[in-house]
Amino acid sequence: MVPVPGDRGRYCDRVARRILLLNGPNLNLLGTREPDVYGTDTLEDIVADLTAFAVERNAEITAAQSNSEGGLVDLLQEARRWADGVVFNPGAYTHYSIALRDAITAIELPVVETHLSNVHAREEFRHRSVLSAVCLGVVAGFGRTSYFVALEGLLRHLDP
Ligand code: DQA
Repeated sequence: MVPVPGDRGRYCDRVARRILLLNGPNLNLLGTREPDVYGTDTLEDIVADLTAFAVERNAEITAAQSNSEGGLVDLLQEARRWADGVVFNPGAYTHYSIALRDAITAIELPVVETHLSNVHAREEFRHRSVLSAVCLGVVAGFGRTSYFVALEGLLRHLDP
């Protein structure tokens, strides 16, 4: 990366952005869970590739997954102390968790709601998200690529 003249260290000296990649319930089963809907990559595959993608963009990924709503609230609250932003696939909690909505609001970090599938093309109960309104943005329907689009959007938001 070439520094911008007169803009000392805009690229080279900038501290890497720290991003929490957070996945909710049943996403630990990626690879074998409904592969026609969610693809055949495991969560570990996606984390490894997203980590490499992040390094190219001067960002560091810390990945976490929890099947429990409280566990996700705890991880979001902890992120407030160290992260610059969150790429978050909340799984089924997307559609009804006011606790996660309140946590996203409380931590005052940019959060990108991310889904592998196009939730709007699926069952009606998946059309509603109680989280979207308090997120920076939403990416859905691109399979594993949704995570990369979400990360790119988040990093461009942080460093326009
Ligand atoms: C999902 C969509 C949700 O409706 C579902 O409950 C999931 C995965 C997705 O990534 O497409 O667990 O968040």
